[in-house]
Amino acid sequence: MSIIDDEGVSNMSGNEHFQDIVDTRLSRRNFLTGGLATAAAVSLGGVEALLKAVPAAAQEIEEEEDTDVGREGRWGQRPMLGFESVAVSSADEVVVPKGYTAEVLIAWGDPISNGPAFKQDASNTAEEQARQWGMHNDGIVYFPIVRSQRGLIVQNNEYTDDGLLFPDGVNNWTAEKTKKSLNAHGVSIIEVAKRTGFHFDLGRRRGKWDVVRPSRFARRITGMTPIDIGGPAAGDPRLTTSDDPTGTRVLGTLNNCAMGYTPWGTYLACEENFNGYFRKNGPQTTMEKRYGITAGGFGYLWHTTDKRFRVDEEPNEPNRFGWVVEIDPFRPHSTPVKRTALGRLKHEGAWVQEARNGRVVVYMGDDERNEYIYRYVSNLPWRQARAQGINPLDDGILYVAKFHADGTGEWLPLTPDNPRLAGWSLNDILINTRGAADATGATMMDRPEWIDTFPKDLTAIATLTNNNRRGSNPPSVNNPDGSTPAGSARPPVDAANPRAVNNYGHIIRWYYRQDWTEPTFAWDIFALCGDPANPAHGSTIFGDKYGSPDGIYVDPSGLIWIQTDISTSTINSGNYVGFGNNMMLAAHPETRETRRFLVGPNQCEITGVFMTPNRRTMFVGIQHPGERPDDLPGDPLNPKQFSSWPDGPNGGRPRSALIVVTKDDGGRIGS
Ligand code: FEO
Ligand code: CA
Ligand code: CA
Repeated sequence: MSIIDDEGVSNMSGNEHFQDIVDTRLSRRNFLTGGLATAAAVSLGGVEALLKAVPAAAQEIEEEEDTDVGREGRWGQRPMLGFESVAVSSADEVVVPKGYTAEVLIAWGDPISNGPAFKQDASNTAEEQARQWGMHNDGIVYFPIVRSQRGLIVQNNEYTDDGLLFPDGVNNWTAEKTKKSLNAHGVSIIEVAKRTGFHFDLGRRRGKWDVVRPSRFARRITGMTPIDIGGPAAGDPRLTTSDDPTGTRVLGTLNNCAMGYTPWGTYLACEENFNGYFRKNGPQTTMEKRYGITAGGFGYLWHTTDKRFRVDEEPNEPNRFGWVVEIDPFRPHSTPVKRTALGRLKHEGAWVQEARNGRVVVYMGDDERNEYIYRYVSNLPWRQARAQGINPLDDGILYVAKFHADGTGEWLPLTPDNPRLAGWSLNDILINTRGAADATGATMMDRPEWIDTFPKDLTAIATLTNNNRRGSNPPSVNNPDGSTPAGSARPPVDAANPRAVNNYGHIIRWYYRQDWTEPTFAWDIFALCGDPANPAHGSTIFGDKYGSPDGIYVDPSGLIWIQTDISTSTINSGNYVGFGNNMMLAAHPETRETRRFLVGPNQCEITGVFMTPNRRTMFVGIQHPGERPDDLPGDPLNPKQFSSWPDGPNGGRPRSALIVVTKDDGGRIGS
């Protein structure tokens, strides 16, 4: 999301001492040599086992021969990068390597099942939008129904550009406009299938992915959908409102950025910049300052017609956002649940990793400058918890990360028995998680974005997108009493965030000896981003340049896919001159070789990536093509000023979309 991104500032400087530490750690030879069973394979097995119960009419799909499924999860050889890098691009199109094809599967406003078609003048109603793909898609998961042939795609719709959402933009605002904007947020679920047929251009049979319409699984969850509040904080007085005196049911989920999925087959949508929809005119409370609830918000006008967003009238409504939301995509009538045990913050994602004894570990970033990386560990093995009627995400311990300068780190428990949290109840901690983390002395990070894991290697990897306040003056840190306004501190460089004015971001990883639940870890830096050919950037990338890493995804073979979110205000300008449009790259986990795989259209961000288990299809999200560089709503009089992707000259406006990338010879992506 670029709406809160910061303009970069120049004056990049390295720090020799910390660079020495980084170099030492990068030279470790024992990285990635662990030998435990592949937990990812266990997880997929869990999902697939569950899916056996799904009575989909899958037989109508012609099964392609899929000889490599049996190899998934085996880590005998690391894959090599087998494609030719694409160059940086400023073209208003998706660029992929020679031998690959990228096609749009669904775009904002397209019907998710049988339903209303998109109107190019954006005149679809709020009711129609609730049956159409939401705007500005982000984190994504493919849930197999029939392996790599048919499945459900669940994708977040993070935010809206209300200037492009209506024929007349944000002018003449009405309650109907608030509703349409709310209905364009949330999560979209579609059923997809690969149909095989003769491809005349290629002269051979080739599968083509389509949205299944109608589908009984197709569903929109919006900013209006009733959602239960679960876990320890459900019913807390701070979660009650005039519409919901029980504090257990909220309308909608907002600003869902990255995601996760569980071994029991559910999807996790993560509420990130929820604060921007609210307006508070009176004096801010300490917690409102810490989470950024302000008088101006991000400029949305919902508060003019819906009192939920007027915090002076409904002071607790913002407390009902900032959570991880669990959705069961295979039960279209199920009620999603906000899982409060995972804490309240600007959740980027919630990556679930099964530990050796069956407990689940959830990694979560809080994406704002100087925020923290979190880990949740369930108290019980997930199967045992579910057998007892306990959701594994409702009963566990939340931790926050402290990275030490010597390359080790520890998980600090966010529990009332932590002496640093004397006087805090569990609900105090879960509702004001940022404040609790401040009290523990956790490490302030350079905007934690996505996290993924190498299951066999007991290693996690996380993107830190950038932080132009790191190392700037006058220095300050998040106050231990939780009173720091969101994103305002200017922390000095430290070992885990080693660059002052970190315009290009970096990627960090941490690893364990025996199991994911250990209280301590070792860490190193995978890459300091920027242009490795420009010494002033201090980049350690081995390969193609990139900056502002955001999405990160370890594919079933262990290749790392990195997506960038250079702010629309800086794309190909300022510090990012010569970087072109936002992109996706592949990196080898051991050699660190990095090649640019895809470049998006103008003013977009690349966010959301997931592969089918056989690695022959990759789903990728293209978000906010054509967004204005000044972060104002799009101009309804000139909607195609910056991009007309994907509809081109015949379309009325640019649209966020989900694309499908396949290899023309039917091979594995990246091979
Ligand atoms: Fe929505 Fe942190 O990106
Ligand atoms: Ca993101
Ligand atoms: Ca981002």
